[in-house]
Amino acid sequence: MRNSTRRLALFSSAMLLAACSQQGTQAPVPANAGLKDIFKDAFRVGTALSPRQFNETDTASIALIDKHFNITTPENVLKWEVVHPTRGTFSYVQSDGYVAFGERHHMFITGHTLVWHSQTPRWVFEDTLGKPLTRAALLAVMKNHIENVVGRYKGRINGWDVVNEALNEDGTMRQSPWMRIIGDDFPIKAFEYAHAVDPQAELYYNDYNLETPAKRDGAIALVKRIRAAGIPVTAIGSQDHHKMDWPSAALTDSMFTAFRAANIHGNVTELDIDVLPRATNNNTADVAVRAQMQARLNPYAAGLPDSVQTALARRYGEIFKVYWKHRDIIDRITFWGVTDRDSWLNGWPVPGRTNYPLLFDRNGKPKPAYDAVVAVAGSSAR
Ligand code: G3I
Repeated sequence: MRNSTRRLALFSSAMLLAACSQQGTQAPVPANAGLKDIFKDAFRVGTALSPRQFNETDTASIALIDKHFNITTPENVLKWEVVHPTRGTFSYVQSDGYVAFGERHHMFITGHTLVWHSQTPRWVFEDTLGKPLTRAALLAVMKNHIENVVGRYKGRINGWDVVNEALNEDGTMRQSPWMRIIGDDFPIKAFEYAHAVDPQAELYYNDYNLETPAKRDGAIALVKRIRAAGIPVTAIGSQDHHKMDWPSAALTDSMFTAFRAANIHGNVTELDIDVLPRATNNNTADVAVRAQMQARLNPYAAGLPDSVQTALARRYGEIFKVYWKHRDIIDRITFWGVTDRDSWLNGWPVPGRTNYPLLFDRNGKPKPAYDAVVAVAGSSAR
């Protein structure tokens, strides 16, 4: 978009905000406000952080983070393989840096993720002779991990992804080592242990493709089982790793409607929109999926055509209208990265592609998608 057009779009957004605030739908925000202020009466706005950012070596990102975001997720440094790489060894160098950054920058700090089948070393599920653990032994390993990690940051990390991606696409429990060895109550035990260590912390169940009705219903059923055991669940985290054509706004709308009917808050925890051709024929965000590079899968290496830029803005606008509509049960919207340069989608499922999934370009400039998102705030989109 040309500069003059962009200025006009921003001016229009600001005027819209001002008009809506007069109708009492949203408190006034300054004209140069960032996302966190623009949406402050609706939900927090967040980003995933990598070491380059929380160690403040990527200085250009810091101003963007301060301006736009008030809640953070560590993209990788609180995963099991990083903090608890070998039996009896906890390594908090990176996660300490992440939490310190959040405190310095006055963020609501979340932790990701305590119990997941991925990025979890094999030793977790085996004894010292390489034999599979018993249920009791694996529960003890899980409890020890949670007590150490949650305990270290008690009162500082404000919310935890306790269990990540425990469901199959049909809503049944995934046959992960956690499930095979412990059984289908492993999420209940994980939430119980986390709650016992830090009763004040928010606790989330996090997964992708929850717009699929069967998987969504599986997540709701899982939360009901945990709650029935007397353990609080603050919200379901819907990752929202979207494609340009999937999921539809209607499916996303139905997901939040179903969450509301079940009295469960729904957060958006890993938002991005993949603009590149599909390299596989499913909608997964499973990190284990990989595909070979081919030229046709990387069409925008030299830059994003205006037509695709405009389509991305339209797509972000359509999704944000749904979020805005359901803002009473959405506590936060978190993007999976700050700028397009940071995105995991440059490397997955095909390594070495050039993707454009976020609101800020590789130079940290807001894209037309940013304006489309801002235009939703305070609108009467219902
Ligand atoms: O840190 C090592 C580095 O030392 C090594 O040289 C390099 C070589 O491959 O790998 C580095 O680790 C990589 C890590 O990201 C940090 O960059 C891993 O290989 C790579 O697999 C890992 O990918 C992450 C992926 O989760 C798996 O943990 C992505 O960055 C991260 O965006 C992605 O995030 C997941 C969420 O946790 C859960 N939901 C889906 C989401 C997207 O897949």
